[in-house]
Amino acid sequence: MKSPKAQLIRTIYKQVYKPALFRRDPEEAHDRMLRLGHGLGNHTLSRAIVRGFLHYSHPSLEQTIHRINFKNPVGLSAGFDKDANLMSIMPSVGFGFMEVGTITCDPYEGNLGKRLVRLPKSRAIIVNYGLKNLGSRTITAKLAHESRPIIPMVISIGKTNCREAVDTRTGIRDYFMCLKRFVNAKIGDIYDINISCPNVFGGEPFTTQEKLDSLLSKIGELNITKPMFLKMPSDKNWEEFSSLLDVAVKHGVQGVIISNLSKDRSSSDIKDDIDPQQKGGISGKPVSERSNEFISKTYASYGDKLTIIGVGGIFSAEDAYEKIKRGASLVQLITGMIYEGPQLIGEINRGLVQLLKKDRYSNINQAIGAYHP
Ligand SMILES: Cc1cc2nc3c(=O)[nH]c(=O)nc-3n(C[C@H](O)[C@H](O)[C@H](O)COP(=O)(O)O)c2cc1C
Repeated sequence: MKSPKAQLIRTIYKQVYKPALFRRDPEEAHDRMLRLGHGLGNHTLSRAIVRGFLHYSHPSLEQTIHRINFKNPVGLSAGFDKDANLMSIMPSVGFGFMEVGTITCDPYEGNLGKRLVRLPKSRAIIVNYGLKNLGSRTITAKLAHESRPIIPMVISIGKTNCREAVDTRTGIRDYFMCLKRFVNAKIGDIYDINISCPNVFGGEPFTTQEKLDSLLSKIGELNITKPMFLKMPSDKNWEEFSSLLDVAVKHGVQGVIISNLSKDRSSSDIKDDIDPQQKGGISGKPVSERSNEFISKTYASYGDKLTIIGVGGIFSAEDAYEKIKRGASLVQLITGMIYEGPQLIGEINRGLVQLLKKDRYSNINQAIGAYHP
């Protein structure tokens, strides 16, 4: 199923690059990958070489959603490219779309202490960046000078992580001003309102019906014509989760990204010892089951109203296909790529084509929600 070129990159990544990378502090390793990706994206030749080794395309993976053309359903999730450094290279890596951010109105240098911890036995990461980013002013200015990326770009919008923005009115204004900057600059194909970062000062303040309603009412004043999505929390029960979906539907939100990091450390999928003092939300395999469950339930009850992007613990084509059959139109990942290597994107797309063939589907859109009667 794997191409010889992808197999070669997999071997090099797992045997050579990853061991060296994983000896470093995880945040330093992340920054190195960003610098490498940025550098490779700067030159036509390096982009072409990356594309030659990693990119895979097939007509059965292509679909149009909210009038946006996606060459394949696999996207980069929010948090890997916080400051928009990888716009030029990610299309060559083979992503069908990418999310930039989360970006907040004002810059934030990140939470104190260790901000990333690997949990290798659990195939997970503890993340405690707390929405570290350069801020909306710098990032809009940067993106205004870039040529438009050739894959759809989702802009993740969050609330500045500071004491002042904890107050609901100030917080709403903060989201509003940030989003307004991107809307006015006409940057982005989809806007994702991140209401679920678990690592910010004051907690997740917009994950109650009333506050989300106020936030989306204010955002409505911008009369945004591009699709708007919500990044959903992981640590809710279905009743709480669906109450937020009701608010989203009421305000004409087009879709939801399911789901964000989890603070729950009781999952049997967590196989590493975790320092109880280490703060942060968990990504990767331990969030997979919860994300899958919410995708199924959301599709069953809101599938005709909300487009679903599924994220959490995708390490293979089978993992991605599971989310699609449960109801996701698109999927995203980060942790899988960190553990498996950049060839994973092409491998997933290639694998999806095989899985579609096996199920006798001619296009990915026929598989969306296939588990549901
Ligand atoms: C290093 C890292 C940083 C992240 N930062 C953000 C972020 O800024 N905004 C956001 O909405 N999600 C963020 N996330 C969550 C991911 O977008 C995703 O929802 C979660 O990691 C599950 O996907 P995965 O298992 O494929 O990593 C981050 C995840 C990781 C691993």
